[in-house]
Amino acid sequence: MENKLNNIINKSRYITKEGEVATYIPSLGKANSTDLGICIADMEGNIYKSGNYNKKFTIQSISKTISLMLALMDNGKEVVFDKVGMEPTGDAFNSIIKLETIMPSRPLNPMINAGAIVVSSLLKGKDKDEKFSRLLNFMRKISGNDKLDIDEDVYLSEKSTGDRNRAMAYFMKDVGIIEGDIEDILEVYFKQCSIKVDCIDLAKIGLFLANKGIIPGTGEQIVSEHITRIVKTFMVTCGMYNGSGEFAIRVGIPAKSGVGGGIMAAVPHRMGIGTYGPSLDDKGNSIGGYKLLYELSRELNLSIF
Ligand code: DON
Repeated sequence: MENKLNNIINKSRYITKEGEVATYIPSLGKANSTDLGICIADMEGNIYKSGNYNKKFTIQSISKTISLMLALMDNGKEVVFDKVGMEPTGDAFNSIIKLETIMPSRPLNPMINAGAIVVSSLLKGKDKDEKFSRLLNFMRKISGNDKLDIDEDVYLSEKSTGDRNRAMAYFMKDVGIIEGDIEDILEVYFKQCSIKVDCIDLAKIGLFLANKGIIPGTGEQIVSEHITRIVKTFMVTCGMYNGSGEFAIRVGIPAKSGVGGGIMAAVPHRMGIGTYGPSLDDKGNSIGGYKLLYELSRELNLSIF
């Protein structure tokens, strides 16, 4: 398998030149645009890896799948889906436009920034620190990596430049979708996006979803099968933003991308996959990671459709 992964990395690396590293969060601009890595964690406990699989990067929007699981466990789906919808947008991940034009005024889904900020506002905890530490501990548990922590530099960079997210959050408070202190809620959201991971961590989170919320190895059910199904369905319909439809046709695997360059993918009953390539396409998805998943899906027949 690792030979196969080496071949796929070698034949895909050229495409990293066709994208660009995100710079709207200034600290992300420091990444090396030609890095490309992959890890597969399968149901039998095997880990296969290749390329820059052990480079650390920030999880960014991939964290939206994890905060959604915790918010659903904390509140139940009636409460959560009263405040955030279930439909793809066709707009960019940070788009503001539909917040005012759609009635009732609530974000269309939890994978876009506006929806994810609502989800973070719903996490239980006596204050922002407890909310974030519950989320971090949950992420440590499902990835099997108790060392996960935030990249302070990226966190501060996003906090000082995240005015579009701030604007959306204040708007949502005004229309009654979000309650509480907006700066506190954004602190949780910016911190969750700044958690440092590598391809192995993402592959293990993908495997956890592929295995219906059970930690493989220990057999411990951490999240209900129903919640993991909801999350995987969002990954199919909205996980690659306004590129989700094409990704479903070309690759056919539930996946979630982040502007840090990661993609976390879950092939039900088979494996989790983590990819890293900070060069992004025009939709904000890792251009190299997309290509790796495309090649792998064809080679191993991974499409769920
Ligand atoms: O809110 C933001 O802009 C980032 N923290 C996360 C966005 C992100 O990863 C979008 N992904 N492609």
